[in-house]
Amino acid sequence: MTLFPPVSPSPPPVKTEAGGLTLDSPLLLAPLAGITIPPLRLFFSRLGAAAVHTEMISCSGLIRSNGKTDAMLDLLPGEAPAVVQLFAGDEDTLLRGAERALAGGVFKAVGINMACPMPKVLKKGAGARLMERPRIAFAMTAALARCGLPVWPKIRKCPPGYPLTTEEFCCGLLDAGAAMVCLHGRTPAQRYAGDADRDVVAQMAVRFPGRICASGDVYTPGDAAGYLEKGCPAVLLARGAVADPFLFARTLAFMGRSVHNKYADPAPEFRKALAVSLGGLVEEYMGSRAAALFTKRMLPGIFKGVRGSGPLRRAVADKTSWPCVRHEIENFNGYLERREL
Ligand SMILES: Cc1cc2nc3c(=O)[nH]c(=O)nc-3n(C[C@H](O)[C@H](O)[C@H](O)COP(=O)(O)O)c2cc1C
Repeated sequence: MTLFPPVSPSPPPVKTEAGGLTLDSPLLLAPLAGITIPPLRLFFSRLGAAAVHTEMISCSGLIRSNGKTDAMLDLLPGEAPAVVQLFAGDEDTLLRGAERALAGGVFKAVGINMACPMPKVLKKGAGARLMERPRIAFAMTAALARCGLPVWPKIRKCPPGYPLTTEEFCCGLLDAGAAMVCLHGRTPAQRYAGDADRDVVAQMAVRFPGRICASGDVYTPGDAAGYLEKGCPAVLLARGAVADPFLFARTLAFMGRSVHNKYADPAPEFRKALAVSLGGLVEEYMGSRAAALFTKRMLPGIFKGVRGSGPLRRAVADKTSWPCVRHEIENFNGYLERREL
């Protein structure tokens, strides 16, 4: 990989304490299935994420020693402190999966997915289904906390009709031993649509000081800072980071941190170098097709706001191998113009 400079030229003057970890900043890369694979996590680590999540990993898959699932536990040198997120529908499966996931001793915290609204996860009694089975959710949290690593259950806002309110659910998880609760301000029924309820996250941050990590609609530095001002110790950057990978750097600058000037207003050539770096990382890890796919997926974000980048995106659209995509990026002769800040 062509190394690009770290976002912050010097260590932060003040570290962030969040969820039992001491981190460089409160800005964390969210768990994103199909996206937060090791090369992407390394990419975002270099771009300023203070900690990164794996995708959610099936404990049943780990127990069956499914090679594909095991590979999700890989970590690349240079990744920010990594949190492994597990999903299971019961305590025994969770613990057996965790035993495998934590055997390597590489993860700094362990997440439990209690938020996923997708049917294939719900039907296993896992993900957001656990919000309907709070006693099981609490028992799972307590059992995992005994493994010694900080435990971060990730939940959603509890809608009316659920056994517990959001406050009661957070309280139960924290009492059971969770170091921090990651709260996404949408209900399971909302999935990813509609606005996230920032107020419920803020209310929980006030009710449980320092223990609620915010998630939902973080697209601008102001969105992240808003959650932090309400008392959240950390914020998850999710779709906003994919839509604009420079969001970490821009938010750090917004928070008054010193940020390398390459990131403050990234030049088109620098963006090209980043895209090529990213593809190179993915190719090394997963091969040419995956590198082409992921780089094409991230290209709109990497060139967000750059006038003249449309033709580049169109030029790579039908390319399925990394050498072809890289060639188009490296040899793009169109006029790329920095956006007006
Ligand atoms: C494609 C995609 C994959 C996701 N995968 C996971 C996951 O594996 N585990 C999890 O807890 N949340 C997952 N999420 C939820 C995000 O972590 C985050 O909570 C959610 O997108 C809300 O934040 P946003 O509105 O800023 O995107 C996923 C979201 C998306 C869009």
